[in-house]
Amino acid sequence: MKRQADLRDRAALDAVFAAHEIDSVIHFAAKKAVGESTRIPLEYYDINVTGTVNLLLAMTRHGARRVVFSSSCSIYGETPKVPLDEDDPAAPANPYARTKYLCEQLLADACARYPELSVIALRYFNPIGAHPSGEIGEDPTGVPNNVLPYMAQVAVGRLTELPVFGDDYPTPDGTGVRDYIHVSDVADGHRVALDHLDDEQGLRVFNLGTGTGASVLELLAEFTKAVGTPIPYRIQARRAGDVPTLIADPGRVERAWGWRTTRDLTAMCADAWRFQRLHPNGYSSGPPTV
Ligand code: UFG
Repeated sequence: MKRQADLRDRAALDAVFAAHEIDSVIHFAAKKAVGESTRIPLEYYDINVTGTVNLLLAMTRHGARRVVFSSSCSIYGETPKVPLDEDDPAAPANPYARTKYLCEQLLADACARYPELSVIALRYFNPIGAHPSGEIGEDPTGVPNNVLPYMAQVAVGRLTELPVFGDDYPTPDGTGVRDYIHVSDVADGHRVALDHLDDEQGLRVFNLGTGTGASVLELLAEFTKAVGTPIPYRIQARRAGDVPTLIADPGRVERAWGWRTTRDLTAMCADAWRFQRLHPNGYSSGPPTV
């Protein structure tokens, strides 16, 4: 049985749902880089939006009714509000963010039509880090789009210096501020979400963040501590589609499920560095076995 299919391939998706009794779906599959999305917007709509439509079509055809969806804090866009709660208005500032916002809307429309659906959209803030074993981590194809993998590749000598995109934002040190969340907390959040899918039908939206922000330079300082040697960087122009600050109000998930994140920026950097140090060239020798 084929274990991999493209969400744009409706026949392949149908075959998966026909062959298995699928109870719940965690829908991660998407493109996720802000800068890239301004260069290839149509591919972003095709993969992220069409992929989600096809998944829901297959699910509704085969009676699968529970899904946890990877949404994004980027849908809040350029807003002066800190922190952001789920009722704040969406103002997506780039094609990637708009695809995630459209997906939330199409999930809401699907739930209105198929009341048996239970959908939880988790609005991730900025996932970084790696499994503490150092065996599961991020291995982007080509030059990394996101800041932490870029930093990590500079630290192992694969790249020469970190570009810092803008130091003239209205933030304490002028660089972009984000709410970084450990990938293990993101994973825990999904496990807890799965446990709560049956609490209610319809679409529910939750932030997945820590409630604390760090600037690019603060993140670099923390990662430098983990590495133990300086990491070269250079201030560059702002990146298209970026916003100054995004920080979560994590209160809704805590009130609903009694759950909150437990890992801090020090752990995120230490774990990310352990993975990169143990796998300087990523998974060049194949995917992880754990
Ligand atoms: N940045 C740099 N240099 C880089 C890359 C990024 O200075 O080489 C800055 C950005 O300008 C921004 C911050 O680092 O201020 C974070 O940028 P990322 O690209 O790492 O992440 P984004 O904030 O753009 O977030 C996007 C999506 C999130 C998603 C996240 C991780 O908006 O939904 O990527 O995939 F969670």
